[in-house]
Amino acid sequence: MCGIVGAVQKNTKAMPVLLSGLRALEYRGYDSAGVAVIENGKIECVKSVGKVAELEKKLKKRELNGAVGIAHTRWATHGVPSEANAHPHLSHNNEVAVVHNGIIENHEKLRTRLESEGYKFVSDTDTEVIAHLVHHYLNLSKQKDLFEAVEKAVHELKGAYAIAVISGSAPDRIVAARFGSPLVVGFGNEKMFVASDVSALIDETNQFTYLEDGDVAEIFADSCVIRNASGKRVDRPMITSEISAADMSLHGFQHYMQKEMYDQPQAIKSTIEQAMKKGEIDVRAFGAKALSVFRKISSIQIIACGTSYHAGLAARYWIEPLADLPCNVDVASEYRYREPRFRKGTLYVFISQSGETADTLACLNMVKRESPNSHTLAICNVPESSLTRGTDLAFLTRAGKEIGVASTKAFTTQLVAFLLLTVVLGRIRRTLPKEIDKKIMKGLLTLPEKVEEALELDSTLHRLAPKFTEKEHCLFLGRGIEYPIALEGALKLKEISYIHAEGYQAGELKHGPLALVDENMPVIAVAPNDALAGKLQSNLKEVRARNGKLFIFASPETKIVKDEGTEVILIPEVDELLAPIVAVVPLQLFAYHVAVQRGKDVDKPRNLAKSVTVE
Ligand code: F6R
Repeated sequence: MCGIVGAVQKNTKAMPVLLSGLRALEYRGYDSAGVAVIENGKIECVKSVGKVAELEKKLKKRELNGAVGIAHTRWATHGVPSEANAHPHLSHNNEVAVVHNGIIENHEKLRTRLESEGYKFVSDTDTEVIAHLVHHYLNLSKQKDLFEAVEKAVHELKGAYAIAVISGSAPDRIVAARFGSPLVVGFGNEKMFVASDVSALIDETNQFTYLEDGDVAEIFADSCVIRNASGKRVDRPMITSEISAADMSLHGFQHYMQKEMYDQPQAIKSTIEQAMKKGEIDVRAFGAKALSVFRKISSIQIIACGTSYHAGLAARYWIEPLADLPCNVDVASEYRYREPRFRKGTLYVFISQSGETADTLACLNMVKRESPNSHTLAICNVPESSLTRGTDLAFLTRAGKEIGVASTKAFTTQLVAFLLLTVVLGRIRRTLPKEIDKKIMKGLLTLPEKVEEALELDSTLHRLAPKFTEKEHCLFLGRGIEYPIALEGALKLKEISYIHAEGYQAGELKHGPLALVDENMPVIAVAPNDALAGKLQSNLKEVRARNGKLFIFASPETKIVKDEGTEVILIPEVDELLAPIVAVVPLQLFAYHVAVQRGKDVDKPRNLAKSVTVE
């Protein structure tokens, strides 16, 4: 959600680093982009509407040579995508330039005040107030101290921000600050960087320091000084990132989403392997204190957004019966405002691919504030994310970098993490029947192969897709644990192909959605062979009786028969406990092919961005 990159170098052009950083960060937002560098003590800025490629075209005509610069790729919150609203935002006389990720909640009040002081606003954004505020304090400071000016400016901001600021009056540095939105400082050789995430800088360095909420950093080409919210100088730990350039490559695939679907067998294998020790699940994969925490808990509350929420919904079908624990699942944006009651003994589980989702983090902070003795667990794909750094316990999924906006491998590895958690809890609590334990462990061993088999349906789904390219609506049905999979299938289809798709519990059909069913409304059913398959089949008959066209993703064992209105896509046979992890793969492939055949940009769907760091 908006990407920031900045470089402080000596005598070399910052632009190549800024542009390659922007390209890597484009997944965070892509409706406009811009750069600003300091040249001969003055700020020069170029912006453009659209993707980073548009900005690059402009920069071919107007070369910027400065060694210090900041850049931004935007996901619009305040104001339409336009050049005026694109970042960097400039203050009076171009003295200060700012890029920002987050939302300034008190921007209207600040704007009114600054306007009354004579500042002229040229954009509709909340960010522009930061440029004018920094300018205001810079001109109050006798030494024109940029660090001090930024410190004073951020004290006035309410909301979330990660910012990088440059000024012609301090041409050898960037001042950066964060609260609620991620920001990382990168250490190079006589070059220093700042970015929203490490992927922007992997060609430059693997040494990083994450800023904490309230930090302000002054970054020079060879040093960096960080002060915390109370103005005290602090040292933040240096980490070596494991992300490599290979993680960012398409490896011959057409799209990141396609590559990431094909990464799933390996991602699942790695996630399982890193949780095992001597052939058994190691409870410490959930954190050093996991065993003592898991022994104490009496209920589970799962909190997440989007696809991660669907993983949580599926987990409930495992955790409640097999670990014998009451388990609630909430969407983070609702949970944070519904005044929930906090119960002693609850384990709060936060799931997030990125670990930077604003609503999920807000819920974590709320739980820590309102119920300080509660236990918190993160299931996350990014080791140094705000989420994993904020919880007592953390399980890391090993999906590898996920770049496509539509989450695929992160989802299947989240499901694996939950299945492992169920087994661990069930064993500790002695609620997991031995034969089920064995079945799951055996199933986990062959799961990567089963997912591989599911990927072999690629050409079948490529052939099926044209039946949907002209459709505007579609229903997805599932029962039991396949219901969250139906929701996920619908989400994948709608977000990348823009076909309106809804997921329903099959049993709910006759309570409303059946009214929508006619020959123009395709109905997709997820029907691996589980205990509820029989019941699902009766629901499907209700669809056929209304001339609805059925597309059933079923295992051979269900013996569902094709007829002229029923198409059956055979998915690999797998134990019903593991079935959702396999069943979702053909739905991902299906959404992908429909979107590609409708000519959509599957990796960067309109209006969306990966890593939703604003509320
Ligand atoms: C959909 C998708 C989103 C994310 C959601 C939460 O394909 O990716 O729905 O799942 O924005 O993001 P994380 O998991 O990073 O918290």
